[in-house]
Amino acid sequence: KKISLVGAGQIGGTMALVLAQKQLGDVMMLDIAEGMPQGKALDIQEGRSVIPTATNLSGSNDYADLAGSDVVIVTAGLPRKPGMSRDDLLDVNFGIIEKVGLAIKEHAPEALVIVVTNPLDAMVYAMQKVTGFPANRVVGMAGVLDSSRLACFIADELGVSAEDVRALVLGGHGDTMVSVYGAASVAGIPLSQLMSKEKFDELAARTAKAGGEIVALLKTGSAFYSPGLSAIHMAEAYLLDKKSVLTAAAQLNGEYGVEGGLYCGVPVVMGAGGIEKVIEVELNEEERKAFDVSVDAVKDLVSWVEN
Ligand code: NAI
Repeated sequence: KKISLVGAGQIGGTMALVLAQKQLGDVMMLDIAEGMPQGKALDIQEGRSVIPTATNLSGSNDYADLAGSDVVIVTAGLPRKPGMSRDDLLDVNFGIIEKVGLAIKEHAPEALVIVVTNPLDAMVYAMQKVTGFPANRVVGMAGVLDSSRLACFIADELGVSAEDVRALVLGGHGDTMVSVYGAASVAGIPLSQLMSKEKFDELAARTAKAGGEIVALLKTGSAFYSPGLSAIHMAEAYLLDKKSVLTAAAQLNGEYGVEGGLYCGVPVVMGAGGIEKVIEVELNEEERKAFDVSVDAVKDLVSWVEN
């Protein structure tokens, strides 16, 4: 198998290291920065005897090296700086996604594409339009990360292992994301038996701002370790045909009452067929309203892309 990482920056580098440890296939790192992807690939290559791993890594500045990719994970684009919202990246990152999308279409027409670049929902929408790939093969990473953040906050609050916590965060990857109280659980125990709605709402509010919290601390860019892990979690589900149930930005055609091929974060089944199924969860009135607000925010971004 061949996994290509377009964008070899903070998230790209993290993913390469995680992939070397997981040994899911050969890794090709691609970036416009000359020498940088080659340097990072060589750096990890030189650690193979201590990881230890048989994974082969390479770096490139040439889109033609995408040829033969089974999965392409796209992080090419600018990250946020303090004071910026994800939406401020729309203009410049759209130009990059267009270029990268055309290259993927030409050189890796059979690949599954996982988009990470922000603003996520608009960029994955643009990627599907530019490549013309079937929607089950173009997917956005955000919900795995947002749900993991919420699960970790719940775990810390309860003093339990984050592994035992399940949380569900839906909608657009922005301030309007929706955390679903009724869907959270700890080792099969509904969260409502262990935590009040008020406390949950507090943690949900922190989740919606969690990316910004890290941007403010780092000052130089945005989160990259947990985003890298989250994107690989999705690639692994595809490569190993795991049928993982995870939240992803998927194309909606009537599900959740959303028409027009809009991309939005929803639970899906991910396996060898890419997005094999969108799962519709029942939302209460409050959650439904919040979801609709989130969908409207995504629509605004997408209408910019359309124009
Ligand atoms: P970074 O700046 O460290 O890396 C981005 C890389 O893309 C740079 O090395 C740059 O040279 C490269 N690049 C730019 N144009 C390119 C092109 N045409 N072809 C190939 N490479 C190109 O940024 P980082 O921290 O890795 O973040 C990447 C993106 O991911 C940002 O847009 C950020 O906002 C987004 N992000 C998304 C998250 C999500 O949950 N979906 C979470 C965190 C970040």
